[in-house]
Amino acid sequence: MFAMPIAEQTSASTALDLTWVRAQFPSLAQGVHGHPAVFLDGPGGTQVPQRVIDAIADHLARNNANTGGAYQTSRNTDRTVAEARSAMADFLNCEADEIVFGPNMTTLTFAMSRALGRELGSGDEIVLTLLDHDANFSPWKALEEKGVTIRTVKFNEADCTLDMHDLAAKIGSRTRLVAVGYASNAVGTINNVAEVVRLARQAGALSYIDAVHYAPHGPIDVRALDCDFLVCSTYKFFGPHMGVLYGKREHLHRLRPYKVRPCTDNIPGCWESGTLNHECIAGIKACVDYWEDLGRRAQPAVATRRAAILAAHEAIHQHERKMTEKMITGLLAIPGLKLYGISDPRRFENRCATFVVRIEGHTPLELATKLGERGFFTWDGNYYALNLTEQLDVERLGGFLRIGLAHYNTMEEVERLLGALQEIVG
Ligand SMILES: Cc1ncc(COP(=O)(O)O)c(C=O)c1O
Repeated sequence: MFAMPIAEQTSASTALDLTWVRAQFPSLAQGVHGHPAVFLDGPGGTQVPQRVIDAIADHLARNNANTGGAYQTSRNTDRTVAEARSAMADFLNCEADEIVFGPNMTTLTFAMSRALGRELGSGDEIVLTLLDHDANFSPWKALEEKGVTIRTVKFNEADCTLDMHDLAAKIGSRTRLVAVGYASNAVGTINNVAEVVRLARQAGALSYIDAVHYAPHGPIDVRALDCDFLVCSTYKFFGPHMGVLYGKREHLHRLRPYKVRPCTDNIPGCWESGTLNHECIAGIKACVDYWEDLGRRAQPAVATRRAAILAAHEAIHQHERKMTEKMITGLLAIPGLKLYGISDPRRFENRCATFVVRIEGHTPLELATKLGERGFFTWDGNYYALNLTEQLDVERLGGFLRIGLAHYNTMEEVERLLGALQEIVG
């Protein structure tokens, strides 16, 4: 086990109490091959605080029952689900009955595309982007089987930002839905989703926002966005492996889910097919508790859980911003390295702390393997952002090396990662 030295702990300029943060996550103290483990794999799934592990174990130990039964453990499970729903409603700023739980974002999106597809056919159009993860692409593309036309929006290759002119041009009177990512899980670009939602609404189309990658990095307010649907996955923001869908109440009521007959017709339960993972739902409540505590430590005067979640985001944002500056400066100094995505510090508000690179003479797999041997957990490949790697013509070359920072990473870890990369490329 390694006790990590934390460079920021004496800095007064960050509101994030990093010593406290890291102490919440037991996995961060692990070592690998004699090195301290450095978790740079957050975009593939973040680590979890002890309280999430405890909540899952406690549910299994004491309340392992299905919902809706006339006895204590079943009633406790009902309460756990209701509490988690209301916690996620605060996380996204909506009502609890607009929160749908599911196994993951992909499954929820396939369920929603099938339900929406019941109403669509020839002459209808769906607008998708080439910057998106395939989970916000293939479920909609599958509706071509019903005669729906798919229109795809390009991105600007120079900085991997969405081509908003192309997007505006692709939306028209036949558009029924616009599906777009809040942030790219590869190049880290944060899209102007408010503008996408506005353009969709103006054309009378629905908007479907994939916030899976954005959720650990920035605050989400579905009311302010006025989007029709938004999906995220709790395992990307320090919770268990589950997906969450927000749907405007009117749509959840009106649309017809594919479901078994005895299942309730009431929302949101009618959208939750089969038995849910109740122990993970208990973990979701604990995950939002963690966000709340983090925010209250950053800004003790906050009054509500929602305000505390926003305070947590602000503290996280400041910390990730500083790490981004150090990371990008350091990466660009490595000979033969190409960084994809926004690198201009004046535009850092439009990216999150996720970086993909290629280095001349080294495959992404080779780099990830060598970093892994030194205790740095990074990723190689396309991370299912398949249209992106194809358009950039790196799919046939093994994709990119992805380095994903989360709020529990430290400046010192960034420095060590840069040093390790320098050493590997010689
Ligand atoms: C941006 C983005 N969207 C969707 C997904 C799919 O999420 P899930 O694994 O919950 O289906 C991922 C997973 O990596 C992702 O990064």
